[in-house]
Amino acid sequence: MKVAVVGTGYVGLPTGVVLADLGHDVVCIDRDEAKLERIHRGESPIYEPGLEEVLHKVLKTGRFRTRASIAEGVKGAEIVFIAVGTPQGPDGHPDLSQVIGAAEEIGRCVTAPVIVVNKSTVPIGSGDLVERTILQQGANPEFVDVVSNPEFLREGSAIKDSYNPDRIVIGAKRKEAAEKLAALYKGMDCPVFVTDVHSSEVIKYASNSFLATKISFINAVSRMCELCDADVAAVAEGMGLDRRIGREFLKAGLGWGGSCFPKDVTALIAQSKDLGYDFSILRASSQVNDDQVRHFMSRGEKLLGGLKGKTVALLGLSFKPNTDDIRDAKSLEIIRLLLEKGASVRAHDPVAISAAEAVFPDVSFCHDPYETASGADALILVTEWGEYAALDLKRLASGMRQAVLLDGRRLFDPRSAEQAGFTYVRVGSKGPPEQTE
Ligand code: UGA
Repeated sequence: MKVAVVGTGYVGLPTGVVLADLGHDVVCIDRDEAKLERIHRGESPIYEPGLEEVLHKVLKTGRFRTRASIAEGVKGAEIVFIAVGTPQGPDGHPDLSQVIGAAEEIGRCVTAPVIVVNKSTVPIGSGDLVERTILQQGANPEFVDVVSNPEFLREGSAIKDSYNPDRIVIGAKRKEAAEKLAALYKGMDCPVFVTDVHSSEVIKYASNSFLATKISFINAVSRMCELCDADVAAVAEGMGLDRRIGREFLKAGLGWGGSCFPKDVTALIAQSKDLGYDFSILRASSQVNDDQVRHFMSRGEKLLGGLKGKTVALLGLSFKPNTDDIRDAKSLEIIRLLLEKGASVRAHDPVAISAAEAVFPDVSFCHDPYETASGADALILVTEWGEYAALDLKRLASGMRQAVLLDGRRLFDPRSAEQAGFTYVRVGSKGPPEQTE
């Protein structure tokens, strides 16, 4: 099928290359010509494992092209995906200006039947809004179907998730449109769930909010475990063995960040409030998330006897491993808090340093974890990159002024950390005696 994808961000580009790899003719559209040039050279503008390999492959087939204008890119397309950004607006509602802008341009180009798909995370009712916007441009209503097809891929595993989705959700008014979109994904081994547009839009927000709440729940349990000398990982494992609960997204840590969960939870609270319902469980989930870093840092602060004048080193800046994305990353919250309290901050990340450098001119960024820890009073593990698990803890500890290790993601084995000479504190376990609450 002939497909156009508007937007080449974390969702648009993986979607475009994977559809091209499935055998479709794909045009990815973005205003940013410099970005398109990089894509054309086979360079991914984002760090996403596996993306460049598929990009190289599809560029060679000639089935994957890029265009800088919607008018050119959507010519002849049977299916047009809108995969532009929907950042959080000042009132908690998503800012839909990019979605509306794309819909207006698409609307001016409709000369034959087309299915326009909302792939971006958009509020309930956005399908109707996009349809109205397209028709206001004079498009023939008989030619236009607006369908919701939310994306569930995760950053850091976007390619793997795109090839192996748990489900494909399609919300459509007309059965024929849903069937045509389902045919695009032929060959994927997963259920295709077809429903109405509003339900599909709610599925996306409810799924992200549910997962975020699951994490907040285990983080709340972790607070209890610290007080009663239980171990949160053991609790999570014991809970997760119940298939009704499941083991996924029960990893206690510093809380959820990134470009999706914080924005989507806030948006669902706001949308539900507008509809007259107080989604109090989500407000509580958000509160637990907001408290998590502050609480963990206060344990570290007590152990160090204050932060003023101390040097603190961070391992990890991205909001999760395998991505260079630092949007709403816990590292940002921790750095701000440390700087406010008068500490000096050093930080390392395998790929996200340049993004963080732009935000924090006062932080010293190092390209080697041992150099980062050297001379510090405490080391905080913020993002559980796989390569950190292989660090030589003795070497890290020996270079520090005070060998204190604050493990925000429970990456290290407590015994190995203590044998290496660290005073070791981690989320969800009681700490060393001098800092118990
Ligand atoms: C999330 C969803 O998982 C995707 O299904 C969805 O498509 C995406 O949002 C989106 O809406 O675009 P993503 O934000 O990329 O994906 O990352 P996740 O793997 O879900 O992690 C989100 C946050 O939760 C991270 O900060 C991570 O560290 C944290 N997390 C995750 C935990 O603290 N514990 C866990 O057990 C799992």
